[in-house]
Amino acid sequence: MGDPRLLAVSPPVPATAFGSAQLEGLLLDMRDTMRHLNGAGLAAPQIGVSLRVVIFGMDENPRYPDSPPIPFTVLINPELTALGEVIEEGWEGCLSVPGMRGLVPRYRDLRYTGVDAAGRPIDRTVSEFHARVVQHEVDHLDGILYPRRIRDLTQFGFSEALFPGEELGDD
Ligand code: NI
Repeated sequence: MGDPRLLAVSPPVPATAFGSAQLEGLLLDMRDTMRHLNGAGLAAPQIGVSLRVVIFGMDENPRYPDSPPIPFTVLINPELTALGEVIEEGWEGCLSVPGMRGLVPRYRDLRYTGVDAAGRPIDRTVSEFHARVVQHEVDHLDGILYPRRIRDLTQFGFSEALFPGEELGDD
């Protein structure tokens, strides 16, 4: 947080980039970074690349026991559509804001579209934690870090102070 590249609006991946060594290399770097840091998702601007590419996925999350696992997904040039007007507050962290947590409002129900690494279409309707992760990651493509979404800044702080004794990653 503070790096101006995290405040930029990223351009779409051009059609000519699909199948290129550069795109494959970017996706490999993103996967390695996300797994190394135990994140639930990562956006290309977080490793200094201004392109509309996000990855996410999580086997299970004890903080969201009612949410099913999220399949590992590469989502390129995403478009989000909120389904309904229900907004839920939930705790978020971010690999670009390490060691912190904030209570962030997000649409509960979401449709997202885009393409995968091979350019094949993705079209999913999701809820709760899955929807939250996608909204968080796609915010990165528009230069928005989650602290800007927090409505009550008393609900923003260090993970170890907010959740003493819990081992929390920076997802
Ligand atoms: Ni993040």
